[in-house]
Amino acid sequence: MSDVDQLQAELLAEVVGAGTLDAIEAVRVRALGKSGSVTALLKTLGGMSPEERQAKGPAFNGLREAVSAAIGARKAALEAAALDARLATEAVDVTMPVWAGATGSIHPISQVMDELAEVFADMGFAVATGPEIEDDWHNFTALNIPESHPARAMHDTFYFPDTTDGEGARMLLRTHTSPVQIRTMTSQQPPIRIIAPGRVYRSDSDATHTPMFHQIEGLVIDRGIHLGHLKWTLETFLKAYFERDDIVLRLRPSYFPFTEPSVEVDVGYSLVNGQRVVGGSDGWMEVLGSGMVHPKVIAACGLDPNEWQGFAFGTGVDRLAMLKYGMDDLRAFFDADLLWLKHYGFRALDVPTLSGGVGA
Ligand code: PHE
Repeated sequence: MSDVDQLQAELLAEVVGAGTLDAIEAVRVRALGKSGSVTALLKTLGGMSPEERQAKGPAFNGLREAVSAAIGARKAALEAAALDARLATEAVDVTMPVWAGATGSIHPISQVMDELAEVFADMGFAVATGPEIEDDWHNFTALNIPESHPARAMHDTFYFPDTTDGEGARMLLRTHTSPVQIRTMTSQQPPIRIIAPGRVYRSDSDATHTPMFHQIEGLVIDRGIHLGHLKWTLETFLKAYFERDDIVLRLRPSYFPFTEPSVEVDVGYSLVNGQRVVGGSDGWMEVLGSGMVHPKVIAACGLDPNEWQGFAFGTGVDRLAMLKYGMDDLRAFFDADLLWLKHYGFRALDVPTLSGGVGA
């Protein structure tokens, strides 16, 4: 057996004996690496006479090819085996039931925001957002609440320190989601149909008020919009959200600077075992503020109020959640109490979908 055959037989045996990817890599380095045995052999060709090179060249190159092919094949086989082993240990049986104990739960407020987005998506409303740190103009002035207006005091606003020396906008934490009306009307052309769910802030805290809470705003701007559209929209929304057909609404005249006329909306409830349940008309609960968008607000956004009209409404998401799912203390929403979350939270897989519906 020639030296070349001898070396080839040794190396191929090493290849077969390599049981891991690390081992096969070590064989490759020993044979084909910079100072590997095959490489060293090939280097000797440089110092040979042309005749000798012609005689030995093919054998040396044949050796390199044979060893390199064997290493490649062995490596592929080892990789496939490693993948199989990994797949076997990581296999997930998707037919197994979900172990609910292993999952977290969806907070009722997130659940209700999702439900509301779905209900309104069905009616063709898009979701709009705005910043929680707002300026005075979007939160108040453009909404027809000028500097001296008493409604500013009513909002218990958290202001940021005024660093502008009266020049420019003083920043605040938005006191309602209504500034999103302004942001939408100044950035989109009508027709507009949006809802804007989000956090709002007021310096107020007791059993029914928390300094941060959630509102959802609705805005429709189009030609020829009137109070009838508002009432139908609210009725359709409340029926879908509470999943009952016997929702009765009562519209009462009210006042908001940014709507004219303004209406406060009550929903009828029935008494079931001493508990108020939405539906029927044994009594009334206030659920929404709304009205026709004030022409001054439309004009402040650069639209012509003679051409464009609309309605807006705003309501508390936390309260809607409490009414639907029967919680009685608002503060529990923000306590991060795991027992409470376990009881009132929603399974992570219970997300509403357009096709499945809210109750799916
Ligand atoms: N922004 C009002 C509030 O926070 C609610 C409202 C929104 C009223 C839109 C009318 C129209 O009380």
